[in-house]
Amino acid sequence: MTARHLLLLAGDGIGAETMAQVERVLTVLRNAGLDTTWDSAPLGGASLDLHGTPLTAETLARAKQADAVLLGAVGGPKWENLDFALRPEQALLTLRKELGLFANLRPAICFPALAESSSLRSELISGLDLLIVRELTGGVYFGEPRGIETLASGERRGVNTQTYTTSEILRVAEIAFTLAAERSGKLVSVEKSNVMESGVLWREEVTALHQKNWQTLSLSHMYADNCAMQLVRAPKQFDVILTDNLFGDLLSDVAAMLTGSLGMLPSASLGDRRPDGLRPALYEPVHGSAPDIAGKSLANPCASLLSLAMALRWSFARPDLAEALESAVEETLAQGFRTPDLMTTTRESNNHLRQASTTEMTDKILDNLG
Ligand code: IPM
Ligand code: MG
Repeated sequence: MTARHLLLLAGDGIGAETMAQVERVLTVLRNAGLDTTWDSAPLGGASLDLHGTPLTAETLARAKQADAVLLGAVGGPKWENLDFALRPEQALLTLRKELGLFANLRPAICFPALAESSSLRSELISGLDLLIVRELTGGVYFGEPRGIETLASGERRGVNTQTYTTSEILRVAEIAFTLAAERSGKLVSVEKSNVMESGVLWREEVTALHQKNWQTLSLSHMYADNCAMQLVRAPKQFDVILTDNLFGDLLSDVAAMLTGSLGMLPSASLGDRRPDGLRPALYEPVHGSAPDIAGKSLANPCASLLSLAMALRWSFARPDLAEALESAVEETLAQGFRTPDLMTTTRESNNHLRQASTTEMTDKILDNLG
């Protein structure tokens, strides 16, 4: 096997700091035998400031050539009032679309040491391990027509369109069933078929696929509003949740917060297999660019490092290294090390914790990686 190539796109805000930690870990893994090369390029606001566009044609081409892309975060107040086409977020949306990354995997795992950091009672979330499979290149994010028009009356009208085709639903559902089969065998498909035709189609196609290929698994359906409620009422009832782009955006933030901190959650976005069997892939932490704490070494590097672990598993065929890295993170938390986002709100429960900066947290993780 030839060396796999990784493109690092640090982006904006805390992205630079967390990506620096990824590079430290990559260097250690490479010295320990991981056959990989990497390089980096600016993205989002950083690219806009340098090149006048949040994603240059060259960066896009390099992302397509790479075996995997690892992203930091994009966006910040400096670029908030620009046209959609120039906003940092557009870089991310274009990458997803152009690389065909239709399946977004967002695991929400509650590490035992963090059960106290959740906004829910710890018995509700300890041991939580669920996976949201979010459709990522369709639905209202990309549907046409879209825009803001001025009506004859002079009133303005904003339009976005929710659309899904059979094939768009089936390909992401197939991935969700495949993953559910490797886990508990339980899939919940989420839409609003009580109100939306696209939701009716979604339910019908997922049901048909279940009948055709996956009858041994348990499939149930849930309306998105009920799912949001169930996630905060009794999250452990879920294993794999399959849902569309917009509902997945909302529900994955809810699921993320259940685990104690947005700073812990990785994600993988995958496309169709290439001829060499590898799926094009983009890995990124679920948290954003957090401009308020950027540059202060306060950011939690765990979500980025766990995203690297997902890359090791999905793009580098190194589940052994993925597990080692995940265990090193878990061990570091168990030892009481915490970036500020993970400190609990009561002082007593913080007594046994040791606050760590972004780099100190990574030092400990590297120690535990052995
Ligand atoms: C996410 C983010 C993005 C989205 C933004 C930054 C465009 O919220 O990945 O969940 O809405 O998909
Ligand atoms: Mg989101």
